[in-house]
Amino acid sequence: MPGFLPLNDGTHLPALGLGLYKVAPGECAATITSAVGLGYRLLDGASFYGNERAVGEAIRALEQDRGIPREDLLVASKFWGEPVQSYDQAMADFEATESALDIGPLDLYYIHWPRPSQDNYVDTWRALVDLQAQGRVHTIAVCNFNAEELTRLIEETGVVPAINQVESHPWLPQHELRAFHARYGILTQAWSPLGRGRMLAVPAIRGIAAKHGCTPAQVVLAWHLALGGAAIPKSTRAERQRENLAADSVFLDADDMARLAALENGTHTGTSPDERR
Ligand code: A2P
Repeated sequence: MPGFLPLNDGTHLPALGLGLYKVAPGECAATITSAVGLGYRLLDGASFYGNERAVGEAIRALEQDRGIPREDLLVASKFWGEPVQSYDQAMADFEATESALDIGPLDLYYIHWPRPSQDNYVDTWRALVDLQAQGRVHTIAVCNFNAEELTRLIEETGVVPAINQVESHPWLPQHELRAFHARYGILTQAWSPLGRGRMLAVPAIRGIAAKHGCTPAQVVLAWHLALGGAAIPKSTRAERQRENLAADSVFLDADDMARLAALENGTHTGTSPDERR
């Protein structure tokens, strides 16, 4: 079972969590129940995913029906930033998320996108800082920020995000950004860690999987862990959830890592609401 990685705010994050993007509300109960039963402790959600009420219901049902305390789980949500990215909108959206989930204080809250055209992510970040000070969220973080945007947050507020969640997989390893994160103790957490599943058909990855007697998904997730990062693979299927969680027992050697490094081509498999990725 993958371990926990330390965050710069003194808390710890499971290296592998369950991504909830594209999990339909009607699938949430079964998906979350099976994942938590298999050992997942991090549920990576967002208001944009349109399933928060169902996610909250599933978590409350785990406590009531199966005796799994809500406190055993880390639940994340993200501020989407529409119609505007602002301090007040972040506060209002956080309240909506709190009431949709209805599970008490949140474990993690992220700014979902920097939306640089609005140039308001610094003030928005102050809302997350205040929510943390109020004890309504434990860890505050961002997604999809570049080094310049992170620098502004840090210089103008003095508060370093604990995590930057960005698209990453062997096509898009994000080496420069990872090095920047390392300087500030920011954890790199990968979304679309399997490239929306597209990495699993790549011949080099299939070859490495055959060599180790594991699956292509396990090779890709073992690569994330070898880089010291976290990842949130999404699957609604119990057997794939189990397979993904077991990726920490796959150890890639230098030759595997070199073959995976050679796959870098800058391909994005996700979409951005922004004018830039
Ligand atoms: P499903 O939910 O039907 O299992 P990413 O996390 O990079 O966005 O990738 C998610 C996609 O990869 C989903 O389509 C998911 O499908 C699929 N997927 C997740 N885990 C595995 C796995 N172990 N083997 C094959 N496909 C997987």
